[in-house]
Amino acid sequence: MRQRKIRNLDEKLNNLDMFQIHEPERYKGNWNKPCYVEIGCGKGQFISRLARLHKEWNFVAFEGHRSVALHAIEKVKGAECKNVKFVLKYVNSLEDVFQDGEVSGVFLNFSDPWPKERHAKRRLTCGSRLREYGRVLSPGGFIEFKTDNDGLFRYTLEEVADQNIFQVAAVTKNLHMDYPEEEIVTTEYEDKFSGKGKNINYLKLVKRG
Ligand SMILES: C[S@@+](CC[C@H](N)C(=O)[O-])C[C@H]1O[C@@H](n2cnc3c(N)ncnc32)[C@H](O)[C@@H]1O
Repeated sequence: MRQRKIRNLDEKLNNLDMFQIHEPERYKGNWNKPCYVEIGCGKGQFISRLARLHKEWNFVAFEGHRSVALHAIEKVKGAECKNVKFVLKYVNSLEDVFQDGEVSGVFLNFSDPWPKERHAKRRLTCGSRLREYGRVLSPGGFIEFKTDNDGLFRYTLEEVADQNIFQVAAVTKNLHMDYPEEEIVTTEYEDKFSGKGKNINYLKLVKRG
């Protein structure tokens, strides 16, 4: 995500320290439940809106780009949500942070597509990642994935078909045509792409019991 340099970034983030978790591994097994995770929350529109809709849920948002994360934290603060914590790191493995079955849902919104074949393992929906999500999710837990990238969506459906952990609960290549707008919590990227008429792909997977 391209981003203008923010002056006094560290100081601004320090002032919002109460929204951050610096050593998430220490909470493994002890996260407040139910616990929902977004990987790559960007500027936080989605998580701040969802957190307001679901005050009874607890959210952990990972964002590795610190200046982007600042916007997200400010949005959550502005929305007066007490149920979101941010981890300002590129998460490698959710299993470092969450125990098996500890997570109720994982949101992947407009994840980086890593289009080169040699980078396929970096995609957040590659087979090994899906298996990892499968372990940290509780039975009946879900993954929601949205992307404007048709190639990444095709790839993801193939990776899902190769495993037997998840059941496809919903799939569409045109979310905004198939679902009522009032049911969709959008992200910044989603607004940008759907505003230009781009179809938004959506997939919901539910872990088999
Ligand atoms: C294309 S942007 C989409 C942002 C937002 N989800 C949206 O839809 O507007 C992807 C974001 O994911 C972040 N990201 C990618 N991989 C990540 C990881 N493993 N852990 C944390 N953040 C990650 C990037 O820094 C970037 O801000």
